[in-house]
Amino acid sequence: MKKKVLSALLSVAMVASLLVGCGGSSTSTTAPADDAAAPAATDDAAPAADEGASAGGKKVGVSMPTKDLQRWNQDGSNMESELKAAGYEVDLQFASNDVQTQLSQVENMISQKCDVLVIAAIEGSSLGEALDMAKDAGIPVIAYDRLLMDSDAVSYYATFDNYMVGTVQGNYVKDTLDLDNAAGPFNIEFTAGDPGDNNAGFFFNGAYDVLKPYIENGKLNVVSGQKTFEECATPTWATETAQSRAENILSSFYADGTNLDVWLCSNDSTALGVENALAANYNGNYPIITGQDCDIENTKNMIAGKQSMSVFKDTRTLASQVVKMVGQILTGATVDVNDTETYNNNVITVPSYLCEPVFADANNYKQLLIDSGYYTEDQLK
Ligand code: BGC
Repeated sequence: MKKKVLSALLSVAMVASLLVGCGGSSTSTTAPADDAAAPAATDDAAPAADEGASAGGKKVGVSMPTKDLQRWNQDGSNMESELKAAGYEVDLQFASNDVQTQLSQVENMISQKCDVLVIAAIEGSSLGEALDMAKDAGIPVIAYDRLLMDSDAVSYYATFDNYMVGTVQGNYVKDTLDLDNAAGPFNIEFTAGDPGDNNAGFFFNGAYDVLKPYIENGKLNVVSGQKTFEECATPTWATETAQSRAENILSSFYADGTNLDVWLCSNDSTALGVENALAANYNGNYPIITGQDCDIENTKNMIAGKQSMSVFKDTRTLASQVVKMVGQILTGATVDVNDTETYNNNVITVPSYLCEPVFADANNYKQLLIDSGYYTEDQLK
């Protein structure tokens, strides 16, 4: 009996937190109209209240974009193991970078009555229908790493500080070339990410904002002339696409022996494409190349001197944060956020938790990646 009263209180608190969680919007609240909104709250089989956030019987749907890129495999498996350890049932799906597949996987999670959805979108604005369904079913949604766009059905967002990723890359270039003091000019090219991924613009702008004054004063020369995000973008972040664009630029602008000093790449999968293109099509001094993620291939390339730096985003940190948020949502506790201004998805500003990205290069990778247990030494051989 006592348990039922507690459970009822818990659902009221949960509903209250959902109302706050949906961007503070007074018109677009997630109506807890049916069972799905108050999962198992009045069920005698529900966990005892003292089990707190580790809610047995609660199911979390985790939708990841693809298995093709190393990081999403890690994100998926970290989420799965952490959620299971906290006592949740987990429905983890990868969508092969296919929007329709992700849509139907998420819809399926909703009809299977998941209690919370955690979604890393392939294309931020393509899941509207599924998000509407989740809202109707009273299921809170956490956007994972990439913001879900054009919807009021997004309760929270957890990611790394995406703009900071770009500034770390830009500052690395600025400091390494000593742009304030060196005579220059230096030649630079840019490779950005997927236009369908809201993060990609933040990365590009973060880096570009640091380097813009030096482009404007002529110390940095973008030889191809391709300076806008649109010109430098790489649909789906594909290595092959980044490689063929880099090959075109190298053959059009550098085949005459022009030296390239920097290729600013937003992430590791695109950096890999640029590195492949350079290996086959460029004979000048090897340029500075930036990246992000510390993927295994790229970390090996950093050790071998083929990539200058990367940005380490420990997927374990993000997974732990999201699992914590899931627990807070389901128990009606205050949900941890540290940014309520930056991430507007064209409909609402989504309360966000931003983890901090960390600079990585050949000098600190051991401490960051091996000592912390992220990789074994063997994986990097
Ligand atoms: C992530 C990056 C990743 C890229 C490609 C972005 O949304 O934040 O870490 O490199 O997608 O998967």
